[in-house]
Amino acid sequence: MRLQNKVAVVFGAGPNIGGTIAHFLAREGASVLVTDIVAEAARETAEFIQGKNLRAAWAACNAREEADVEAAIRTAVETFGRVDVIVNMAGRVHWAHTLDMRLDDWQDAVGSFATAGLLTTQYAARQMIRQGQGGSIIHLLSTAAHFGEADGAAYCAAKAALLNFARSAAMDLAHHQIRVNTVTPCSMEHQLWTLMKDEVFDPNWKVPDRTGFYSRQEYLDQLPLRRFPRASDLAWATVFLASDESSCITGIDIPVDAGLRHKYPTWTPGRHHPLSIQDYVRKTFITRYGEPNEPLTERFGQPRNTE
Ligand SMILES: NC(=O)c1ccc[n+]([C@@H]2O[C@H](COP(=O)([O-])OP(=O)(O)OC[C@H]3O[C@@H](n4cnc5c(N)ncnc54)[C@H](O)[C@@H]3O)[C@@H](O)[C@H]2O)c1
Repeated sequence: MRLQNKVAVVFGAGPNIGGTIAHFLAREGASVLVTDIVAEAARETAEFIQGKNLRAAWAACNAREEADVEAAIRTAVETFGRVDVIVNMAGRVHWAHTLDMRLDDWQDAVGSFATAGLLTTQYAARQMIRQGQGGSIIHLLSTAAHFGEADGAAYCAAKAALLNFARSAAMDLAHHQIRVNTVTPCSMEHQLWTLMKDEVFDPNWKVPDRTGFYSRQEYLDQLPLRRFPRASDLAWATVFLASDESSCITGIDIPVDAGLRHKYPTWTPGRHHPLSIQDYVRKTFITRYGEPNEPLTERFGQPRNTE
Protein backbone atom coordinates (compact mmCIF):
# COMPACT_ATOMS: atom_id res chain seq x y z
CA MET A 1 0.00 0.00 0.00
CA ARG A 2 2.68 2.47 -1.05
CA LEU A 3 0.10 4.90 -2.45
CA GLN A 4 -2.56 4.73 0.24
CA ASN A 5 -4.88 7.78 0.27
CA LYS A 6 -3.45 9.11 -2.98
CA VAL A 7 -5.51 9.92 -6.07
CA ALA A 8 -3.99 9.40 -9.51
CA VAL A 9 -5.09 10.31 -13.04
CA VAL A 10 -3.70 8.33 -15.99
CA PHE A 11 -3.82 9.87 -19.48
CA GLY A 12 -3.70 7.15 -22.20
CA ALA A 13 -4.78 3.84 -20.73
CA GLY A 14 -5.12 0.85 -23.06
CA PRO A 15 -4.36 -2.70 -21.81
CA ASN A 16 -0.62 -2.28 -22.39
CA ILE A 17 1.44 0.43 -20.69
CA GLY A 18 -1.23 2.86 -19.47
CA GLY A 19 -3.65 0.22 -18.18
CA THR A 20 -0.87 -1.67 -16.43
CA ILE A 21 0.32 1.50 -14.73
CA ALA A 22 -3.26 2.33 -13.67
CA HIS A 23 -3.66 -1.22 -12.30
CA PHE A 24 -0.39 -1.11 -10.32
CA LEU A 25 -1.14 2.35 -8.90
CA ALA A 26 -4.54 1.06 -7.71
CA ARG A 27 -2.97 -2.11 -6.30
CA GLU A 28 -0.72 0.09 -4.16
CA GLY A 29 -3.76 1.82 -2.68
CA ALA A 30 -4.37 4.77 -5.01
CA SER A 31 -7.79 5.71 -6.36
CA VAL A 32 -7.32 6.03 -10.11
CA LEU A 33 -9.18 7.99 -12.77
CA VAL A 34 -8.41 6.23 -16.03
CA THR A 35 -8.70 8.41 -19.15
CA ASP A 36 -8.16 7.80 -22.85
CA ILE A 37 -9.12 9.41 -26.14
CA VAL A 38 -10.92 6.10 -26.84
CA ALA A 39 -13.71 5.98 -24.24
CA GLU A 40 -13.99 2.19 -24.51
CA ALA A 41 -10.30 1.73 -23.63
CA ALA A 42 -10.68 3.86 -20.50
CA ARG A 43 -13.88 2.06 -19.49
CA GLU A 44 -12.37 -1.42 -19.97
CA THR A 45 -9.32 -0.55 -17.89
CA ALA A 46 -11.41 0.96 -15.10
CA GLU A 47 -13.69 -2.11 -15.08
CA PHE A 48 -10.69 -4.44 -14.88
CA ILE A 49 -9.39 -2.53 -11.84
CA GLN A 50 -12.85 -2.39 -10.21
CA GLY A 51 -13.12 -6.15 -10.80
CA LYS A 52 -10.17 -6.57 -8.46
CA ASN A 53 -12.05 -4.61 -5.77
CA LEU A 54 -9.74 -1.66 -6.26
CA ARG A 55 -10.82 1.96 -6.72
CA ALA A 56 -11.10 3.30 -10.26
CA ALA A 57 -13.30 5.50 -12.40
CA TRP A 58 -13.02 6.43 -16.06
CA ALA A 59 -13.49 9.37 -18.40
CA ALA A 60 -12.99 9.96 -22.11
CA CYS A 61 -10.31 12.61 -22.57
CA ASN A 62 -8.22 13.84 -25.46
CA ALA A 63 -5.14 14.94 -23.53
CA ARG A 64 -4.17 17.50 -26.16
CA GLU A 65 -7.49 19.35 -25.74
CA GLU A 66 -7.53 21.89 -22.94
CA ALA A 67 -11.23 21.54 -22.09
CA ASP A 68 -10.92 17.74 -21.86
CA VAL A 69 -7.90 17.86 -19.54
CA GLU A 70 -9.56 20.46 -17.33
CA ALA A 71 -12.68 18.27 -17.16
CA ALA A 72 -10.64 15.14 -16.32
CA ILE A 73 -8.92 16.82 -13.39
CA ARG A 74 -12.30 18.18 -12.22
CA THR A 75 -13.82 14.67 -12.48
CA ALA A 76 -10.99 13.22 -10.38
CA VAL A 77 -11.59 15.84 -7.70
CA GLU A 78 -15.38 15.35 -7.77
CA THR A 79 -15.04 11.56 -7.67
CA PHE A 80 -12.12 11.03 -5.30
CA GLY A 81 -11.64 14.43 -3.62
CA ARG A 82 -8.14 15.42 -4.80
CA VAL A 83 -5.27 14.77 -7.24
CA ASP A 84 -1.81 13.68 -6.03
CA VAL A 85 -0.35 11.91 -9.05
CA ILE A 86 -0.72 12.08 -12.80
CA VAL A 87 0.81 9.81 -15.41
CA ASN A 88 0.74 10.94 -19.04
CA MET A 89 1.62 9.00 -22.19
CA ALA A 90 -0.89 10.42 -24.67
CA GLY A 91 0.16 11.07 -28.24
CA ARG A 92 0.31 9.82 -31.81
CA VAL A 93 3.37 8.43 -33.58
CA HIS A 94 4.12 9.12 -37.25
CA TRP A 95 6.99 7.41 -39.04
CA ALA A 96 8.41 9.08 -42.16
CA HIS A 97 11.75 9.99 -43.70
CA THR A 98 12.70 13.61 -43.05
CA LEU A 99 12.43 14.42 -46.76
CA ASP A 100 8.94 12.90 -47.01
CA MET A 101 7.52 14.20 -43.73
CA ARG A 102 4.07 15.71 -44.16
CA LEU A 103 3.56 18.88 -42.20
CA ASP A 104 0.24 17.71 -40.72
CA ASP A 105 1.82 14.44 -39.50
CA TRP A 106 4.70 16.39 -37.96
CA GLN A 107 2.30 18.77 -36.23
CA ASP A 108 0.17 15.87 -35.03
CA ALA A 109 3.12 14.01 -33.45
CA VAL A 110 4.86 17.02 -31.92
CA GLY A 111 1.57 18.67 -31.03
CA SER A 112 0.08 15.60 -29.39
CA PHE A 113 2.94 14.44 -27.12
CA ALA A 114 4.30 17.88 -26.21
CA THR A 115 0.91 19.59 -25.88
CA ALA A 116 -0.52 16.76 -23.78
CA GLY A 117 2.58 17.12 -21.60
CA LEU A 118 1.95 20.81 -21.04
CA LEU A 119 -1.82 20.60 -20.48
CA THR A 120 -1.80 17.61 -18.14
CA THR A 121 1.00 19.19 -16.09
CA GLN A 122 -0.69 22.61 -15.94
CA TYR A 123 -4.11 21.42 -14.82
CA ALA A 124 -2.78 18.82 -12.40
CA ALA A 125 -0.28 21.25 -10.87
CA ARG A 126 -2.92 23.96 -10.40
CA GLN A 127 -5.05 21.47 -8.47
CA MET A 128 -2.04 20.25 -6.45
CA ILE A 129 -1.15 23.86 -5.56
CA ARG A 130 -4.75 24.43 -4.34
CA GLN A 131 -4.38 21.35 -2.11
CA GLY A 132 -1.00 22.58 -0.79
CA GLN A 133 0.56 19.15 -0.29
CA GLY A 134 2.74 18.77 -3.36
CA GLY A 135 2.34 15.98 -5.89
CA SER A 136 4.01 13.78 -8.47
CA ILE A 137 3.77 14.21 -12.25
CA ILE A 138 5.16 11.47 -14.49
CA HIS A 139 5.50 11.53 -18.27
CA LEU A 140 6.28 8.45 -20.36
CA LEU A 141 9.01 9.00 -22.93
CA SER A 142 10.80 6.61 -25.28
CA THR A 143 14.41 5.91 -26.15
CA ALA A 144 13.50 8.13 -29.11
CA ALA A 145 13.67 11.11 -26.71
CA HIS A 146 17.40 10.55 -26.33
CA PHE A 147 18.60 9.38 -29.76
CA GLY A 148 18.02 10.03 -33.44
CA GLU A 149 16.16 7.30 -35.32
CA ALA A 150 15.86 6.84 -39.10
CA ASP A 151 12.26 7.61 -40.15
CA GLY A 152 11.60 8.74 -36.59
CA ALA A 153 12.20 12.50 -36.79
CA ALA A 154 8.69 13.45 -35.67
CA TYR A 155 8.57 10.93 -32.81
CA CYS A 156 12.12 11.71 -31.65
CA ALA A 157 11.44 15.46 -31.74
CA ALA A 158 8.13 15.06 -29.90
CA LYS A 159 9.54 12.88 -27.11
CA ALA A 160 12.68 15.04 -26.78
CA ALA A 161 10.40 18.06 -26.39
CA LEU A 162 8.52 16.25 -23.65
CA LEU A 163 11.80 15.34 -21.90
CA ASN A 164 13.02 18.90 -21.68
CA PHE A 165 9.55 20.20 -20.94
CA ALA A 166 9.43 17.85 -17.94
CA ARG A 167 12.83 19.03 -16.68
CA SER A 168 11.77 22.67 -16.98
CA ALA A 169 8.41 22.06 -15.32
CA ALA A 170 10.28 20.30 -12.49
CA MET A 171 12.19 23.54 -11.88
CA ASP A 172 9.05 25.72 -12.13
CA LEU A 173 7.08 23.58 -9.68
CA ALA A 174 9.75 22.52 -7.18
CA HIS A 175 8.89 25.22 -4.64
CA HIS A 176 5.36 23.79 -4.48
CA GLN A 177 6.84 20.34 -3.71
CA ILE A 178 5.42 19.15 -7.01
CA ARG A 179 7.84 16.73 -8.61
CA VAL A 180 8.05 16.11 -12.36
CA ASN A 181 9.90 13.05 -13.62
CA THR A 182 9.96 10.83 -16.68
CA VAL A 183 10.26 7.12 -17.46
CA THR A 184 11.92 5.92 -20.67
CA PRO A 185 11.08 2.52 -22.17
CA CYS A 186 12.76 1.12 -25.26
CA SER A 187 10.89 -1.19 -27.63
CA MET A 188 8.48 -3.14 -25.44
CA GLU A 189 7.90 -6.87 -25.13
CA HIS A 190 4.21 -6.45 -26.01
CA GLN A 191 5.21 -5.38 -29.52
CA LEU A 192 5.92 -9.09 -30.14
CA TRP A 193 2.14 -9.63 -30.16
CA THR A 194 1.03 -6.19 -31.36
CA LEU A 195 2.94 -4.16 -33.97
CA MET A 196 5.66 -6.72 -34.72
CA LYS A 197 3.50 -9.86 -34.67
CA ASP A 198 3.79 -10.62 -38.39
CA GLU A 199 7.55 -10.30 -38.35
CA VAL A 200 7.73 -12.85 -35.57
CA PHE A 201 5.06 -15.35 -36.67
CA ASP A 202 4.17 -14.97 -40.37
CA PRO A 203 6.35 -17.38 -42.43
CA ASN A 204 5.78 -15.22 -45.54
CA TRP A 205 6.87 -11.99 -43.90
CA LYS A 206 9.49 -9.99 -45.88
CA VAL A 207 12.00 -7.43 -44.56
CA PRO A 208 10.49 -4.01 -45.43
CA ASP A 209 12.32 -1.94 -47.95
CA ARG A 210 12.93 1.14 -45.82
CA THR A 211 15.88 2.95 -44.30
CA GLY A 212 16.73 2.09 -40.74
CA PHE A 213 14.77 -1.15 -40.49
CA TYR A 214 16.03 -3.45 -37.75
CA SER A 215 14.67 -6.88 -36.90
CA ARG A 216 13.48 -8.03 -33.47
CA GLN A 217 16.53 -10.30 -33.37
CA GLU A 218 18.88 -7.35 -34.00
CA TYR A 219 17.10 -5.30 -31.35
CA LEU A 220 17.26 -8.11 -28.79
CA ASP A 221 20.99 -8.54 -29.46
CA GLN A 222 21.55 -4.92 -28.39
CA LEU A 223 19.89 -5.28 -24.99
CA PRO A 224 22.46 -6.04 -22.26
CA LEU A 225 19.84 -7.72 -20.04
CA ARG A 226 18.66 -9.72 -23.05
CA ARG A 227 15.01 -8.96 -22.60
CA PHE A 228 12.49 -6.37 -23.73
CA PRO A 229 10.83 -4.24 -21.04
CA ARG A 230 7.35 -5.33 -19.98
CA ALA A 231 4.53 -2.97 -19.10
CA SER A 232 4.89 -4.18 -15.49
CA ASP A 233 8.54 -3.01 -15.47
CA LEU A 234 7.37 0.49 -16.36
CA ALA A 235 4.56 0.29 -13.83
CA TRP A 236 6.97 -0.49 -10.98
CA ALA A 237 9.17 2.50 -11.90
CA THR A 238 6.04 4.66 -12.03
CA VAL A 239 4.82 3.44 -8.64
CA PHE A 240 8.18 4.46 -7.16
CA LEU A 241 8.03 7.94 -8.72
CA ALA A 242 4.39 8.33 -7.61
CA SER A 243 5.13 7.36 -4.02
CA ASP A 244 6.72 9.31 -1.18
CA GLU A 245 9.72 6.97 -1.48
CA SER A 246 10.93 9.35 -4.23
CA SER A 247 9.99 12.58 -2.41
CA CYS A 248 13.47 14.08 -2.88
CA ILE A 249 13.65 13.21 -6.59
CA THR A 250 12.60 15.62 -9.32
CA GLY A 251 13.62 16.38 -12.91
CA ILE A 252 15.07 12.90 -13.52
CA ASP A 253 14.47 10.28 -16.16
CA ILE A 254 14.41 6.57 -15.28
CA PRO A 255 15.45 4.38 -18.21
CA VAL A 256 13.60 1.05 -18.15
CA ASP A 257 15.45 -0.33 -21.14
CA ALA A 258 17.44 -3.43 -20.13
CA GLY A 259 20.64 -1.32 -20.03
CA LEU A 260 20.38 -0.06 -23.61
CA ARG A 261 21.02 3.66 -23.03
CA HIS A 262 23.99 3.23 -20.77
CA LYS A 263 26.07 0.88 -22.78
CA TYR A 264 28.97 2.12 -24.87
CA PRO A 265 27.72 0.94 -28.26
CA THR A 266 31.09 0.57 -29.98
CA TRP A 267 32.62 -1.39 -27.09
CA THR A 268 29.46 -3.29 -26.34
CA PRO A 269 27.89 -3.79 -29.75
CA GLY A 270 25.70 -6.73 -28.75
CA ARG A 271 25.72 -10.39 -29.75
CA HIS A 272 27.96 -11.29 -26.79
CA HIS A 273 25.40 -13.69 -25.43
CA PRO A 274 23.17 -14.46 -28.38
CA LEU A 275 19.61 -15.42 -27.60
CA SER A 276 17.42 -16.31 -30.56
CA ILE A 277 14.17 -14.41 -30.90
CA GLN A 278 12.44 -17.78 -31.36
CA ASP A 279 13.63 -19.00 -27.95
CA TYR A 280 12.60 -15.66 -26.46
CA VAL A 281 9.14 -15.89 -27.98
CA ARG A 282 8.66 -19.48 -26.77
CA LYS A 283 9.10 -18.30 -23.18
CA THR A 284 6.95 -15.17 -23.48
CA PHE A 285 3.45 -14.72 -22.09
CA ILE A 286 0.90 -12.26 -23.44
CA THR A 287 0.05 -9.87 -20.64
CA ARG A 288 -2.98 -7.68 -20.09
CA TYR A 289 -2.80 -4.98 -17.43
CA GLY A 290 0.52 -6.49 -16.34
CA GLU A 291 -0.83 -9.98 -15.69
CA PRO A 292 0.47 -12.95 -17.70
CA ASN A 293 -2.47 -14.18 -19.70
CA GLU A 294 -1.42 -16.97 -22.07
CA PRO A 295 1.78 -18.21 -23.75
CA LEU A 296 2.47 -16.33 -26.96
CA THR A 297 2.88 -19.60 -28.89
CA GLU A 298 -0.53 -20.82 -27.73
CA ARG A 299 -2.14 -17.80 -29.40
CA PHE A 300 -0.01 -17.56 -32.56
CA GLY A 301 1.80 -20.90 -33.00
CA GLN A 302 5.54 -21.34 -33.34
CA PRO A 303 7.70 -18.34 -34.31
CA ARG A 304 8.89 -18.10 -37.90
CA ASN A 305 12.26 -19.60 -38.71
CA THR A 306 14.74 -16.83 -39.56
CA GLU A 307 17.76 -19.04 -40.38
N1 LIG B 1 5.13 0.24 -27.27
C1 LIG B 1 6.41 0.55 -27.23
O1 LIG B 1 7.29 -0.26 -27.61
C2 LIG B 1 6.86 1.87 -26.67
C3 LIG B 1 8.21 2.13 -26.61
C4 LIG B 1 8.64 3.34 -26.10
C5 LIG B 1 7.71 4.26 -25.66
N2 LIG B 1 6.39 3.99 -25.72
C6 LIG B 1 5.44 5.02 -25.22
O2 LIG B 1 4.62 4.47 -24.20
C7 LIG B 1 3.31 5.05 -24.25
C8 LIG B 1 2.22 3.97 -24.34
O3 LIG B 1 2.57 2.98 -25.29
P1 LIG B 1 1.68 1.68 -25.57
O4 LIG B 1 2.55 0.71 -26.27
O5 LIG B 1 0.91 1.26 -24.36
O6 LIG B 1 0.69 2.29 -26.66
P2 LIG B 1 -0.84 1.99 -26.93
O7 LIG B 1 -1.12 2.52 -28.32
O8 LIG B 1 -1.19 0.57 -26.60
O9 LIG B 1 -1.55 2.93 -25.85
C9 LIG B 1 -1.56 4.33 -25.96
C10 LIG B 1 -2.90 4.83 -25.49
O10 LIG B 1 -2.92 6.28 -25.55
C11 LIG B 1 -4.16 6.68 -26.09
N3 LIG B 1 -4.02 8.03 -26.69
C12 LIG B 1 -3.43 8.37 -27.85
N4 LIG B 1 -3.53 9.70 -28.04
C13 LIG B 1 -4.22 10.18 -26.98
C14 LIG B 1 -4.67 11.47 -26.62
N5 LIG B 1 -4.44 12.53 -27.38
N6 LIG B 1 -5.35 11.62 -25.44
C15 LIG B 1 -5.59 10.55 -24.65
N7 LIG B 1 -5.20 9.31 -24.95
C16 LIG B 1 -4.53 9.12 -26.10
C17 LIG B 1 -4.51 5.60 -27.11
O11 LIG B 1 -5.89 5.56 -27.39
C18 LIG B 1 -4.03 4.33 -26.40
O12 LIG B 1 -5.03 3.72 -25.60
C19 LIG B 1 3.32 6.03 -25.43
O13 LIG B 1 3.63 7.32 -24.95
C20 LIG B 1 4.47 5.51 -26.28
O14 LIG B 1 5.04 6.53 -27.08
C21 LIG B 1 5.93 2.81 -26.22
